[in-house]
Amino acid sequence: MIRKTLVINGVTRNLVLDKDETLATVLREHLLLTGCKIGCGEGHCGACNVIVNGKVTKACIFKMSRIPDNAEITTIEGVGTLTDMHPLQVAWMAYGCAQCGFCTPGFIISAKVLLEQNPNPTREEVRDWFNKQRNLCRCTGYKPLIDATMAAAAVLRGEMKKEDLIFKPTGDSIKGTKYIRPSAAQKVTGTWDFGADDALKMPGCLRLALTQAKVSHSSPPAAPTRSTAWSCCPSTTRPTASSVLSSARTRSSSSVTPSPSSPPIPRSMPAPPPRRSRSTSRSCPPT
Ligand code: FES
Ligand code: FES
Repeated sequence: MIRKTLVINGVTRNLVLDKDETLATVLREHLLLTGCKIGCGEGHCGACNVIVNGKVTKACIFKMSRIPDNAEITTIEGVGTLTDMHPLQVAWMAYGCAQCGFCTPGFIISAKVLLEQNPNPTREEVRDWFNKQRNLCRCTGYKPLIDATMAAAAVLRGEMKKEDLIFKPTGDSIKGTKYIRPSAAQKVTGTWDFGADDALKMPGCLRLALTQAKVSHSSPPAAPTRSTAWSCCPSTTRPTASSVLSSARTRSSSSVTPSPSSPPIPRSMPAPPPRRSRSTSRSCPPT
């Protein structure tokens, strides 16, 4: 165990820790600062970004033994609050950057350090910075994130007010407008809890996990999977996906004459269902 004194979001904390614990574990599990999200847990996605002594740091892989005493750490909770947001947080809401919101704290932390180092970046510099910091977002397509960073930079340079970033509805309808989604404020301040965050804040609660079937498709016993049926066919007579579909279409149209191009189908094999979707076509067994 080691003893550390850290200044986290401006508050001095005296902590006794396992030296092999990561910074993310300490922030999330000891201090319940769950705005530090764990995405990959391997330093690849930037969801866990925090600032340590002015540098963007991936908390999921940063061991506590590497952090110097009296280090200053800023998490998303220290960037701004629901009632007093940083311009980056306002811009993130205004440009629709907080969609699922999982990447949001890590991106805002990253952008904050960029604007501290370079108050007037070009779009290319913003993009390169996010690339360098390995920030990943699966929802936005990145353009809104660069737009938001540029807008926040303008606010920080005093060229506009952060209030001007917010869309103000004028008519009765908000349909098709840039109206801010209701969850955006929590997502940009790190106060929107995802499942793993709830589990930390409600110890002992029942946790569920989705599991995926080990086979791609299954069917009730009366209708065995095509792969099961085909597994009894000699490889020389095994039908191709297209020929089976062609055969199924022939049967469904009540034709009694099979297509000469269709290979024989064993009597025991049920007719496969007609092709319905892309996912059905992916279930074709390997040839
Ligand atoms: S969770 Fe730390 S980089 Fe992905
Ligand atoms: S908003 Fe969903 S991953 Fe970025």
